[in-house]
Amino acid sequence: MSRYTSDSKVRVRDAVDMVALVSARTDLRRAGPNSYEGLCPFHDERTPSFSVEPVQKVYYCFGCEAKGDAFTFVQETEGVDFKGALELLADRSGVELQVEAEDPREAQRRQQRERLLELLGRTAAYYERHLWESTEAKNAREYLEGRGLGEEILRSFHVGYSPSAWDRVLVGSRRAGFSEQELYVTGLAQRSKQDRRLYDRFRGRIMFPLADIRGRVLGFGARAMRDEQGPKYLNTSDNDVYHKGQHLYGADLARLHATRAGEVLLCEGYTDVIALHQAGMQNAVGLMGTALTAEQVGELARMASRVLLALDADSAGQEAMLRASKLATSRKLELRVVEMPEGADPADLVQREGVEAMNAAVAKSVPFVRFRVERVLAQGDYGSPEGRDRTIEELRPVFATMPPSAMRMELTRLVSGRLELPESVVERELSVQAANAAAQRSSGESRTATGTTDATTAPAAAATTTAKRPVSRALGRREETERTFLVLCLASPQEGAQALAELDLDGHFTSDLLRRAAEHLRAGDLREPMKSWQAQESEQEHDGELEGVLAELVVQAGREEGRPAMLRVQLLQLELARVDRQIQAARVQGLGDVSELARRRGDVKREFDRAQEQALEETGE
Ligand code: UTP
Ligand code: MN
Repeated sequence: MSRYTSDSKVRVRDAVDMVALVSARTDLRRAGPNSYEGLCPFHDERTPSFSVEPVQKVYYCFGCEAKGDAFTFVQETEGVDFKGALELLADRSGVELQVEAEDPREAQRRQQRERLLELLGRTAAYYERHLWESTEAKNAREYLEGRGLGEEILRSFHVGYSPSAWDRVLVGSRRAGFSEQELYVTGLAQRSKQDRRLYDRFRGRIMFPLADIRGRVLGFGARAMRDEQGPKYLNTSDNDVYHKGQHLYGADLARLHATRAGEVLLCEGYTDVIALHQAGMQNAVGLMGTALTAEQVGELARMASRVLLALDADSAGQEAMLRASKLATSRKLELRVVEMPEGADPADLVQREGVEAMNAAVAKSVPFVRFRVERVLAQGDYGSPEGRDRTIEELRPVFATMPPSAMRMELTRLVSGRLELPESVVERELSVQAANAAAQRSSGESRTATGTTDATTAPAAAATTTAKRPVSRALGRREETERTFLVLCLASPQEGAQALAELDLDGHFTSDLLRRAAEHLRAGDLREPMKSWQAQESEQEHDGELEGVLAELVVQAGREEGRPAMLRVQLLQLELARVDRQIQAARVQGLGDVSELARRRGDVKREFDRAQEQALEETGE
């Protein structure tokens, strides 16, 4: 496989007619100077929330948050990868793609890798044929049938069977021109301890090919058929091609379904994934017996924004969920827990009780925090004050992860009901640790958290945490101002660039994401906010979150007439908010005299009022 030059990508992008491209999937109508809208092709809806900005060539759905450019649009609607989308669009728009001239060493490495992938692919095909055609595999066929897995679904996962002889893969592959070294590094063959000779690693096992997101086989999970066969599952070990912990089983087949559904279902095993896909839940992927890694969470996040965890109720499954939740917070992933009946996995459940049972479990899924709170409550003994204190103690870290929200209030209510303590007390007690930590941070001293549950000694700071709730709404408004400001910058690029240049990014933005967006816009060309990106698109891991918010801003700007006077109002509003924060900070730190800041605030406010009047004149309101 060769790489195309980034110039090719830019030329394809320039040639694409975004409106025509999208119109093939959904009817669009004009919605603003640079804006079209229609029903979202990625989710069911009756009123249009899908917007296309034809000049920057990006789309964004205000309903399901689907977003991207011409390439992602083709990827998602046609189920191809970036390269496939590039080739398709180039073909359609008559642009010739140029291949990157490659460093010869790099080229050689790539060719070697291609050969290893070919070896793995043809071996998978060999195992698959063997499963369906050999008499030796009769037991395996019966076993799979007994597990309720039909031929059609097994074929789509390319499940196979490895012959029990010592050297079938070895001999066949050598005959096809592959070297012993190649067989060894792919993990298909291993060396005998006695005479160092190579022999097939997988023998007499049901073979589950492990593929990357593009469906290319990188390794195998191999299930024993008999008890005396050693480990139940023998998996390809980490090697040059296969890196355990970077992949999710079935991701290639699940990706599109997960993206469409907006959710991905994570379970433990190979059979779970296959059984779920067979039952119509094609957004299921599997963990393959590893502890969940950051890479896997990243892959989940790329598939969908909601992850349903259908993991074992045992401690390993619990651990995986906790890890997922830690890794999820930085990625805006919504985690929900699908509770499985004791001792059952999804494959068992579907086979024993049908897909309805699994659907019911999914429908009853609960947000991860709620699941944790309920677990602590279910295990707690709170007949005594000590028991209640212990329960609070265990709940504290859980609540520490929760911002002020309706969910937090609801869970507080739940705890208060169960512990028979007043809500206000529960809320205060559960905030103690967080408040202590905050106090420590701001005072810079390392006081140890006492974690006391005696209401009378709870630090006063706890009260401020409780009182924070209304602030969260103010935060939403503040973010709105920051967002509107950026939209107006994009709508009037010339004035926008000037306004952006005046900003103190850290001081003016409270939302980290919007600050990053502002930084990106300031560094680039406001007329082509997405461009720097699209040139490099495919190869490196890019900041998907930033790209998403930019698409959203661009699409919103497309609906606006340029309104420079309004832009000025927003800029002053940001400044006003900044000064307010400075005043607040000065007060908290007890710096006393804030008169200088207050004067500044007065000036800005007057300027703001004037600007607002002007803006009203401009729009003739
Ligand atoms: P399970 O033991 O639950 O297996 O391990 P399973 O998927 O339900 O398999 P069946 O239903 O008995 O056939 C869950 C997953 O953990 C990994 C595999 O990925 C398996 O699917 N595993 C398990 C291993 O990697 N090695 C093992 O020895 C066991
Ligand atoms: Mn099982």
